Amino acid sequence: MTDAARPARTAAVIPAAGRGVRLGPGAPKALRTLGGIPMLIHAVRALSASRSVSLVVVVAPPDGVDGVKSLLDEYPAPERTEVRVVPGGASRQESVRCGLDALPDDVTTVLVHDAARPLVPVETVDAVIEAVRDGGAPAVVPAVPVADTVKEVEPTADGAPEPVLGTPERARLRAVQTPQGFDRATLVRAHSEVTDNVTDDASMVEQLGLQVVAVPGHEEAFKVTRPLDLVLAEAVLARRRVTDGF
Ligand code: CTP
Ligand code: MG
Repeated sequence: MTDAARPARTAAVIPAAGRGVRLGPGAPKALRTLGGIPMLIHAVRALSASRSVSLVVVVAPPDGVDGVKSLLDEYPAPERTEVRVVPGGASRQESVRCGLDALPDDVTTVLVHDAARPLVPVETVDAVIEAVRDGGAPAVVPAVPVADTVKEVEPTADGAPEPVLGTPERARLRAVQTPQGFDRATLVRAHSEVTDNVTDDASMVEQLGLQVVAVPGHEEAFKVTRPLDLVLAEAVLARRRVTDGF
């Protein structure tokens, strides 16, 4: 098949190699359960629910690859979705890079999705994919307006009051979620050229001077970070069970 005839494939990289320190002691965060099912499995299901996603690359804790593989055997993805597992690294950025290295040549669009956002609706996944494929920008992030007023402070080490440096206009601020969607070549370039520590992939593309655009995210795509987030996630699942018999 020539390049032009080859269908453009969309893959999802799911970094799941973090410890979950802020969640407190226990298993690695992605393996903790919600409604009896590991968070990672919820995340794989959420991404493979999109008919556009034909490959999911799970980035596992380096010492947990075999465990993650057997978990994925226990909870298989739909037939149409290929699932690969690779070991991750010491930072989220490194883990995403490990996932990118495992992508086959025919993948042209890549989603990066936190295992810690297990409840993202498929509509959000599809909206991000569609926006990347439209070609308007090489990077797309789902984003929601922020509820709190946000202040920039000068952090203090000792718990002393922190001087406030400024207050950005709230209406112009967005909290950014995942999956973030990318033209594959752009994301690979960003990961090889940008060495600063960042907390999301899109900011690396911003550092290349390229356009990133935001599309509407979803309140259920929140990140499970602290113990209270587990309570919220269980409540969302309970509501889904009632409303869609899920
Ligand atoms: N992640 C990863 N590899 C790392 C660190 C994080 O793959 N070395 C992943 C996490 O598994 C998670 C996502 O990146 O799915 C977002 O990170 P975060 O919410 O910060 O998760 P953790 O790093 O596990 O949590 P904490 O920072 O509280 O330890
Ligand atoms: Mg972290």
